[in-house]
Amino acid sequence: MPKDSEHNGPKHVAVIMDGNGRWATNRKKPRLFGHHAGARRVKEIVRACPDVGVKYLTIFAFSTENWKRTQTEVAGLMKLFRRYIIREANDLLAEGVRVRFIGDRVRLDEKLVALMDQLELLTSQNDKVHLTIALNYGGRDEVARATQRLAYDVQAGKLKPENVDEETLPRYLDTHFLPDPDLVIRTSGEARISNFLLWQSAYAEYEFIDTLWPDFTKDIFGEVVGRFGTRERRFGAVLA
Ligand code: FPP
Repeated sequence: MPKDSEHNGPKHVAVIMDGNGRWATNRKKPRLFGHHAGARRVKEIVRACPDVGVKYLTIFAFSTENWKRTQTEVAGLMKLFRRYIIREANDLLAEGVRVRFIGDRVRLDEKLVALMDQLELLTSQNDKVHLTIALNYGGRDEVARATQRLAYDVQAGKLKPENVDEETLPRYLDTHFLPDPDLVIRTSGEARISNFLLWQSAYAEYEFIDTLWPDFTKDIFGEVVGRFGTRERRFGAVLA
């Protein structure tokens, strides 16, 4: 296992977990069957993080656009999230995982929001792996909500417009407690970012992997993360 000082792999990996529906359809099963398989994979990947030197894992569980799916699928996913929190809370606590949620909670069911709050509080002292779950999350929505909060602070005299710079907005984003992602992985062969961490991924590397999310094993995760160290990141500069 790499020590922090010699680790040049990604510290923060963000994942767009795509392909659950196709995985289920390929097996002639309902889409929710794929989401359940996807949830089991989430557990495996979170557990694998310390072994591959990933300290921050951010996963896209439900987007602001996902409400357009059928009522059955949306309700099934919401139930799955509630069950995941209830069932996994103790293991996450014991395994040193700090869980936080990003996204707009206003549209989410009260019972689910209460469970999210409880899990955040329960795991708040953990520091081994920081798992951030994006739920009712959209990058543009996040920037719009952040801008609104920033505008209110200007109106209240807490912030001067002339002092607004690149460092200001990130303090208002849902992710204010996170470093920017170094690597964004999307499974299932689609090469799109789908409104995920738009501001934060300005300098991230992207990996688009053909594997469907329910088939994305910890070995594949390790391989993708391992490849990262071999890339040269210049952040726009020219290296000598
Ligand atoms: C995308 O696959 C997946 C989702 C919209 C849901 C992601 C949810 C999980 C992996 C469930 C578990 C998550 C947690 C946090 C317990 P898709 O349905 O778009 O697949 P398709 O493109 O093949 O239709």
